[in-house]
Amino acid sequence: MKVEIAVNGVKRTDEVEPRLLLAHYLREVAGLKGTNIGCDTSSCGACTVHVDGESVKSCTVLAVQADGRQVTTVEGLASEDGTMHPMQRAFQQEHALQCGFCTPGMVMASIGLLAENPDPTEQEIREGLEGNLCRCTGYHNIVRAVRLAAEGNRA
Ligand code: FES
Ligand code: FES
Repeated sequence: MKVEIAVNGVKRTDEVEPRLLLAHYLREVAGLKGTNIGCDTSSCGACTVHVDGESVKSCTVLAVQADGRQVTTVEGLASEDGTMHPMQRAFQQEHALQCGFCTPGMVMASIGLLAENPDPTEQEIREGLEGNLCRCTGYHNIVRAVRLAAEGNRA
Protein backbone atom coordinates (compact mmCIF):
# COMPACT_ATOMS: atom_id res chain seq x y z
CA MET A 1 0.00 0.00 0.00
CA LYS A 2 1.11 3.54 -0.66
CA VAL A 3 1.42 5.87 2.32
CA GLU A 4 2.18 9.57 2.47
CA ILE A 5 3.58 10.54 5.83
CA ALA A 6 5.25 13.78 6.87
CA VAL A 7 8.17 12.61 8.98
CA ASN A 8 9.83 15.42 10.91
CA GLY A 9 8.30 17.91 8.50
CA VAL A 10 9.40 16.16 5.32
CA LYS A 11 6.70 14.48 3.29
CA ARG A 12 7.53 10.95 2.12
CA THR A 13 5.69 8.56 -0.11
CA ASP A 14 6.45 4.88 0.43
CA GLU A 15 5.09 1.54 -0.57
CA VAL A 16 4.56 -0.53 2.59
CA GLU A 17 3.11 -3.86 3.65
CA PRO A 18 -0.26 -3.36 5.35
CA ARG A 19 1.06 -5.11 8.48
CA LEU A 20 4.21 -2.96 8.84
CA LEU A 21 4.37 -1.28 12.24
CA LEU A 22 5.05 2.44 12.39
CA ALA A 23 8.11 1.74 14.57
CA HIS A 24 9.60 -0.48 11.86
CA TYR A 25 8.61 1.99 9.15
CA LEU A 26 10.50 4.76 10.93
CA ARG A 27 13.59 2.65 11.56
CA GLU A 28 13.82 0.57 8.41
CA VAL A 29 12.06 2.62 5.72
CA ALA A 30 12.74 6.18 6.88
CA GLY A 31 16.13 5.19 8.36
CA LEU A 32 15.50 6.95 11.66
CA LYS A 33 17.02 4.70 14.30
CA GLY A 34 16.39 7.05 17.21
CA THR A 35 13.04 5.41 17.78
CA ASN A 36 13.97 2.34 19.80
CA ILE A 37 12.12 -0.94 20.13
CA GLY A 38 12.52 -2.38 23.60
CA CYS A 39 9.76 -4.96 23.93
CA ASP A 40 7.15 -6.88 22.04
CA THR A 41 4.38 -6.31 24.55
CA SER A 42 3.62 -2.57 24.07
CA SER A 43 4.89 -1.95 27.56
CA CYS A 44 8.26 -0.14 27.47
CA GLY A 45 7.52 3.12 25.62
CA ALA A 46 10.98 3.23 24.01
CA CYS A 47 9.23 3.59 20.65
CA THR A 48 7.17 6.68 21.59
CA VAL A 49 6.78 9.27 18.82
CA HIS A 50 4.24 11.99 18.11
CA VAL A 51 1.50 11.50 15.55
CA ASP A 52 -0.23 14.80 14.82
CA GLY A 53 1.29 16.08 18.05
CA GLU A 54 0.11 13.26 20.29
CA SER A 55 2.38 10.74 21.99
CA VAL A 56 1.92 7.29 20.53
CA LYS A 57 3.78 4.03 21.05
CA SER A 58 4.81 3.46 17.47
CA CYS A 59 4.92 -0.32 17.94
CA THR A 60 1.16 -0.27 18.54
CA VAL A 61 0.30 1.55 15.31
CA LEU A 62 0.53 0.43 11.71
CA ALA A 63 2.37 2.60 9.23
CA VAL A 64 -0.80 2.74 7.15
CA GLN A 65 -2.62 4.30 10.11
CA ALA A 66 -0.18 7.21 9.90
CA ASP A 67 -1.06 7.82 6.27
CA GLY A 68 -1.70 11.54 5.76
CA ARG A 69 -0.43 12.40 9.25
CA GLN A 70 2.52 14.28 10.69
CA VAL A 71 4.96 12.09 12.61
CA THR A 72 7.69 13.54 14.79
CA THR A 73 10.55 11.43 16.09
CA VAL A 74 13.37 12.37 18.43
CA GLU A 75 15.46 13.30 15.37
CA GLY A 76 12.94 16.02 14.58
CA LEU A 77 13.20 17.85 17.91
CA ALA A 78 16.37 19.89 17.54
CA SER A 79 16.20 23.01 15.41
CA GLU A 80 18.05 23.17 12.10
CA ASP A 81 21.12 24.78 13.64
CA GLY A 82 21.38 21.84 16.05
CA THR A 83 19.94 23.60 19.09
CA MET A 84 18.36 20.99 21.30
CA HIS A 85 14.69 21.05 22.22
CA PRO A 86 14.16 22.43 25.76
CA MET A 87 13.14 18.96 26.94
CA GLN A 88 16.38 17.48 25.58
CA ARG A 89 18.32 20.23 27.34
CA ALA A 90 16.47 19.56 30.59
CA PHE A 91 17.30 15.83 30.36
CA GLN A 92 20.93 16.72 29.81
CA GLN A 93 21.01 19.23 32.62
CA GLU A 94 19.38 16.93 35.18
CA HIS A 95 21.36 13.84 34.11
CA ALA A 96 18.09 12.11 33.32
CA LEU A 97 19.71 9.33 31.35
CA GLN A 98 22.31 6.64 31.76
CA CYS A 99 22.37 4.03 28.98
CA GLY A 100 20.03 6.24 26.94
CA PHE A 101 17.93 3.44 25.52
CA CYS A 102 14.66 4.72 26.96
CA THR A 103 15.56 8.36 26.39
CA PRO A 104 14.10 9.10 22.94
CA GLY A 105 10.75 7.66 23.98
CA MET A 106 10.95 9.27 27.39
CA VAL A 107 11.66 12.70 25.88
CA MET A 108 8.80 12.36 23.37
CA ALA A 109 6.39 11.21 26.08
CA SER A 110 7.52 14.05 28.37
CA ILE A 111 6.86 16.65 25.69
CA GLY A 112 3.42 15.11 25.15
CA LEU A 113 2.79 15.20 28.88
CA LEU A 114 3.57 18.92 29.16
CA ALA A 115 1.40 19.66 26.13
CA GLU A 116 -1.53 18.25 28.08
CA ASN A 117 -0.54 19.48 31.50
CA PRO A 118 1.94 22.40 31.43
CA ASP A 119 2.47 22.45 35.20
CA PRO A 120 2.42 18.86 36.45
CA THR A 121 3.18 17.83 40.02
CA GLU A 122 5.81 15.20 40.66
CA GLN A 123 3.04 12.64 41.08
CA GLU A 124 1.40 13.67 37.80
CA ILE A 125 4.74 13.33 36.00
CA ARG A 126 5.26 9.85 37.43
CA GLU A 127 1.74 8.84 36.42
CA GLY A 128 2.04 10.51 33.00
CA LEU A 129 5.23 8.60 32.24
CA GLU A 130 4.20 5.26 33.67
CA GLY A 131 3.96 3.80 30.15
CA ASN A 132 7.68 4.45 29.70
CA LEU A 133 10.12 2.16 31.45
CA CYS A 134 13.69 3.00 32.42
CA ARG A 135 15.99 0.33 33.78
CA CYS A 136 18.76 2.69 34.83
CA THR A 137 17.79 5.94 36.44
CA GLY A 138 15.20 5.13 39.09
CA TYR A 139 13.13 7.90 37.41
CA HIS A 140 14.08 10.57 39.93
CA ASN A 141 16.16 12.68 37.56
CA ILE A 142 13.66 12.18 34.76
CA VAL A 143 10.96 13.70 36.95
CA ARG A 144 13.29 16.59 37.78
CA ALA A 145 14.02 17.15 34.08
CA VAL A 146 10.33 17.34 33.24
CA ARG A 147 9.81 19.81 36.10
CA LEU A 148 12.72 21.89 34.81
CA ALA A 149 11.32 21.92 31.28
CA ALA A 150 7.90 22.89 32.63
CA GLU A 151 9.43 25.79 34.57
CA GLY A 152 11.38 26.86 31.48
CA ASN A 153 8.21 26.81 29.37
CA ARG A 154 6.46 29.09 31.81
CA ALA A 155 9.38 31.51 32.22
S1 FES B 1 8.74 -1.14 21.78
FE1 FES B 1 6.87 -0.08 21.81
S2 FES B 1 6.23 -0.21 23.86
FE2 FES B 1 8.07 -1.35 23.85
S1 FES C 1 18.63 5.35 30.80
FE1 FES C 1 18.89 3.20 30.53
S2 FES C 1 16.87 2.49 30.28
FE2 FES C 1 16.60 4.55 30.81
